Amino acid sequence: MPVLDPIPQSLTVQSAIETRRSIRQYHPDMPKGHLLEILRLATLAPSAFNAQPWRFAVVENAEVKKQLQEASYNQSQITSAPYTIVVYGDAEDTLKTAIETSHPHFGDEGKVRQVQTVERSLSKLSVQERARWADNQTNILLGVLMVAARGLGYDTVPMLGFDQSKVKKLLDLPEHVIITALLPVGRAAELGRPHHRHSLERITRFI
Ligand SMILES: Cc1cc2nc3c(=O)[nH]c(=O)nc-3n(C[C@H](O)[C@H](O)[C@H](O)COP(=O)(O)O)c2cc1C
Repeated sequence: MPVLDPIPQSLTVQSAIETRRSIRQYHPDMPKGHLLEILRLATLAPSAFNAQPWRFAVVENAEVKKQLQEASYNQSQITSAPYTIVVYGDAEDTLKTAIETSHPHFGDEGKVRQVQTVERSLSKLSVQERARWADNQTNILLGVLMVAARGLGYDTVPMLGFDQSKVKKLLDLPEHVIITALLPVGRAAELGRPHHRHSLERITRFI
């Protein structure tokens, strides 16, 4: 997908991580090409078997954003941001379509074997266990997605404060999926809070 508008800036990884803060007020403008580039970068995240169980529903329609906000304890960042990405994992779709993600590097026979491995591993789990598996993988993508957005000069806030059932119903998502997060994205219209983190000494042991 071509990026039509030039990317305003590209930060180093260090700078993108340092300057990412949860942002809850946004400017309304964001070229769709930039959003697509951020999503593309995020999909380069790793996943078990390269299965890529993540899926996106990008909400841009003002009326749907309003309803999404209502399903999210009325958190106003959803309608403030030009886009809210609903990031979810779909293990059932992943299982059905494993041939699509099986790497050409394996060759034709190898690809079939890889599909069988994925099917064997996932089909011994229950639907709920598979959903959790997909959610774990999708959380890895979510981290990459936030850093990718910041790296291209955009801001986000990850959100778990929403009603899964209401959001699934609103967006017509299958019952079996887990929504990993809602992610409003756009250009910050506030500074956000400075980081407040544990020291490394508090949380790290060398053994
Ligand atoms: C899984 C997850 C769920 C979160 N849910 C919400 C939320 O529903 N609403 C909100 O305003 N912030 C939410 N946050 C943002 C956190 O409050 C924020 O990341 C944290 O305070 C650290 O601040 P920072 O992101 O600015 O570094 C969530 C963050 C994560 C990682």
